[in-house]
Amino acid sequence: MLLDNDDERILAGEQGETKQKMLELLVALGKVFGAERLVPVKSAQVSGASYKTIGKYGLEWLNSLDAKAVVPAVLNPIGMPRTRWQEMGVDAAFAKNQEAVVAAYARLGIALECTCTPYYLRETLYGDHLAWSESSAVSYANSVIGARTNREGGPGALAAALVGKTPCYGLHLAANRKPQVIVRVQADTRDWTIADYGALGYHAGKLVGNRIPFFSGITPERDQLKALGAAMAATGAVALYHVEGVTPEAVKVSYDLGNLETIAVETDDVRRLFREVPVNAVALGCPHCSPEELGNLARILAGKRVKKPLYIFASQGVIDANRSAVDIIEKSGAKVYADTCMVVSPVMEQYAGIMVNSGKALAYVPDMCGGAARIGTTEECVRVAME
Ligand code: F3S
Repeated sequence: MLLDNDDERILAGEQGETKQKMLELLVALGKVFGAERLVPVKSAQVSGASYKTIGKYGLEWLNSLDAKAVVPAVLNPIGMPRTRWQEMGVDAAFAKNQEAVVAAYARLGIALECTCTPYYLRETLYGDHLAWSESSAVSYANSVIGARTNREGGPGALAAALVGKTPCYGLHLAANRKPQVIVRVQADTRDWTIADYGALGYHAGKLVGNRIPFFSGITPERDQLKALGAAMAATGAVALYHVEGVTPEAVKVSYDLGNLETIAVETDDVRRLFREVPVNAVALGCPHCSPEELGNLARILAGKRVKKPLYIFASQGVIDANRSAVDIIEKSGAKVYADTCMVVSPVMEQYAGIMVNSGKALAYVPDMCGGAARIGTTEECVRVAME
């Protein structure tokens, strides 16, 4: 693998043992995947941030490291809102451990924005090389923005943050970004919502697995693309998809689709996922809400009162920039929490049935929270929260 003088100095230990070990990790990864060189990254997004997922040994490992991030880097959602954990009902012992994990990352120079939607906080552009790890963020970066990132593991993303580079293989290379299967949606999608696109992603992810799909027959907007990609990354392993006439590479690059397998998806494949299940809490914001989603929720909830717990998740930066919408939402009794989400917070484990508007949450809630999940539109979710 081609390394420059700076890399060689780091490998020789001139910038400390942590950076040396981190670059060794990146070089080893690169060798496994056939990378010829490292590529500088514009930013990193580091998973392995919730104490629920990394536990005591993960925390010990983080505490053993001594270096500072050299590119902008944020964390994935953690197990609680950093400032409102007591109000959310998080156990004090868990909170203490979670705070220790956050402090360890802060010491490493990782910004304490804990979100799966870093693209709302820092401009990310077409062609940027990144080292992001949360699957929906990776899918959005590659597909909706046209940036380039593999789905990094937590240590790989942290290593990239500390070194500023990542091995150049996989989705960093144009040759590996071509469609591998066509998904033809044969349905009237004009009135489709975020939830419909989430359900489409839930269904399509199971069919395409880890291939790069090229969708035709749909014209999703940005939040709908976010929902589609997040769900496909959950039920499949899709880190990049294209939508004819919509996503940037499908528009800019002329792909040869001639010999690809075609999978047809019909209305019933999507509608059958909208099953009625008893619900005792509602959770929205998977992936974390955009400003537009918060604005829409404020319009729907204005002057209303919820009876069931209604959790809404967004990044702290998006919450701060949309304070009036958040105030209207919280006047209804709903809660808008930063830093965490319905899947990584242990608080959600108390509910036997959770309603969501997200195909990804539909896939993850049963395993990660132990309850049943039901998908509905945002309006249906609010209506159920009011019953
Ligand atoms: Fe984000 Fe949590 Fe969903 S990390 S994509 S809100 S499961």
